[in-house]
Amino acid sequence: MANIIGAVTTSHIPAIANAMANGLEQTPYWKPFFDAYPPVRDWLNEKKPDVIILFYNDHGLEFFIDKKPTFAMGVADEYHNADEGWGIPTIPPVTGESELSWHIANSIVDEGFDMTICQEMKVDHGLTVPLNLMWPGHQYGHVKVIPVCINCEQYPMPQPWRTFELGRAIGRAVQSYEEDINVVVFGTGGMSHQLDGERAGFINRAFDIDCLDKLVSDPEALTKYTNMDLVEQGGAQAVELNMHIAMRGTLLGKVTELHRNYHAPISNTGSGLMLLEHEMPKGE
Ligand code: DHB
Ligand code: FE
Repeated sequence: MANIIGAVTTSHIPAIANAMANGLEQTPYWKPFFDAYPPVRDWLNEKKPDVIILFYNDHGLEFFIDKKPTFAMGVADEYHNADEGWGIPTIPPVTGESELSWHIANSIVDEGFDMTICQEMKVDHGLTVPLNLMWPGHQYGHVKVIPVCINCEQYPMPQPWRTFELGRAIGRAVQSYEEDINVVVFGTGGMSHQLDGERAGFINRAFDIDCLDKLVSDPEALTKYTNMDLVEQGGAQAVELNMHIAMRGTLLGKVTELHRNYHAPISNTGSGLMLLEHEMPKGE
């Protein structure tokens, strides 16, 4: 039986990729951010998950504002990135996992999620930056990745309760997959940030830290927020917290926090890194 053994939240901002490409990790600006990552990398290297289910948002590379699926997922064996204009070096392809992807797609569509299913899909910084952060030097080719995309760019966007339910459905789909594999779920992006308008640069540390607490021990509380609540509390782009909420939805069993770091600002964002271990009760 497939098993979700843990979950990670991480920032996805393009500036991270540029800092890594230019060897800036130990400069005063970046050190407090990058120094938080080794424990999570070590855990991933020790546990060696077979598959990463990665919740992210596509900022316009594959889905521009003229066509925006509310939810989309990849079912391909390989994914490519392309130049988004951030100056990030070209990256090697990301390995997919078509069999489990199709199993999840069939299962969640049967449950009522009208998922856009992509046999080809370019993946943007929302997916590539988190992978490179966990396996620096783009050493992630051995890990199979299932990209799941949540619209955080163009209204109407799915609400937190719905993204949490999507996570729940994906968690159930993984549970019902017969092959004996280990899965880790990534919730990427966030936390509070606003990139334009009157409140550009807005960050709300207290809100971010409260969200991290609730992701561990009271995720249902987060599903009570509307996207407008997230915008008010955390800035226009805080809707990216929906990826963290979807991630938490997949964890149907017991959750233990193993590592956490909050650092702000990093570029325009509050950055929340968290590693959760997950265990299903025996017999479920
Ligand atoms: C930044 C934040 C984002 O969420 C993003 O997608 C791109 C850039 C930033 O703060 O630099
Ligand atoms: Fe973003």
